[in-house]
Amino acid sequence: MTNPTPTFHIRDLSIYGDTVLSPMATYSDVPFRAICRHFGAALHYTEFVPTEALIGDPNPLWRRLDVHPAGEHPMVFQIFGGDARQILFAAQRIEAWGADIIDINMGCSVPKVSEKGAGVGMMCQPKLVAETFHLLTSHLRVPVTGKLRLGWDETSQNYLEIAQIMVDNGAALVALHGRTRSQKYRDQADWEAIAKLKQSVPVPVLGNGDVHTVADIDRLKAYTDCDGVMIGRAALGNPWLLARIDREQLTFAEITAVLRHHLHEAIAYYGPTDGLQNINRHLKKYLSGLALKPFLPAFQAVQSVSGFEDLLGEMETAVPPHLTIADLRQIPHLPSPTHLQAKV
Ligand SMILES: Cc1cc2nc3c(=O)[nH]c(=O)nc-3n(C[C@H](O)[C@H](O)[C@H](O)COP(=O)(O)O)c2cc1C
Repeated sequence: MTNPTPTFHIRDLSIYGDTVLSPMATYSDVPFRAICRHFGAALHYTEFVPTEALIGDPNPLWRRLDVHPAGEHPMVFQIFGGDARQILFAAQRIEAWGADIIDINMGCSVPKVSEKGAGVGMMCQPKLVAETFHLLTSHLRVPVTGKLRLGWDETSQNYLEIAQIMVDNGAALVALHGRTRSQKYRDQADWEAIAKLKQSVPVPVLGNGDVHTVADIDRLKAYTDCDGVMIGRAALGNPWLLARIDREQLTFAEITAVLRHHLHEAIAYYGPTDGLQNINRHLKKYLSGLALKPFLPAFQAVQSVSGFEDLLGEMETAVPPHLTIADLRQIPHLPSPTHLQAKV
């Protein structure tokens, strides 16, 4: 067997593949990452964790940095903060917890983060970026990376300047979401900016924003020459995208098989009660675009794993398993759960 050729390197780490799961608070947890790894995600990011939560006693946010018992590599732990020494303390503390890479979030636009100078607020403080990356890269063994937006607003798009400062201070990769803080998630992501970044830094670049289909992955790569494509919202309920498979061509049976796998990962990690709550959040995404809304309240009302599986079985009996998502979209009224029909 020949060794596969790495797609790119993050310092001395070989990365195989070019589709990357975005960090997504409340979604990119241990169970979902297991599913995305199954579909070939080349890198996994944790949900972001505030550095204040990492300097004191154990607390629930630490769980965001859990790693699957079967191992997850390469694993990126993402943190955010507005104080370089505190970021260093937190990073040193978590380096031993299983991180292959530590990433600094410089893209979060939520006011309670950005207006305190963390997340995208860091992009307004070039000296803080320099100090943070200098401290981290001179004290940590693992590579240090950062995820940026274009800048604070349309008139202050300083991603090239910030990326240069990161690289000058040892950053091993830059990920860019092609929107400003003020755009939040509006408008088209600016792929031109991703292309400019790729031309201006010697480290790998991940392009992010507005990737919905396999064609988008290929277009973003061709347009920007980025090393990897980071996929967020479009991977929710649709981890096949990481394997370059479009959801429209999947059969209903393929969707429910993965949903079942995800359910088992969620129960194994969270236990039955929280696991059911967790899978219900993803269920909506797996079924999105299909006329299966009547099933959602029934799934939410279910109290046991076996009840959830029964309902899943009922849905599988009711919907022709060989039909593709594209076929099913054409059907305006798919069946409701039988016990709901009985009540009507
Ligand atoms: C629910 C949600 C949670 C997110 N949480 C994080 C996070 O913890 N860290 C981060 O860097 N970006 C976070 N993001 C931003 C995404 O990583 C990504 O940059 C953004 O969604 C654009 O990519 P997309 O168009 O592929 O979704 C989050 C986005 C969403 C929708």
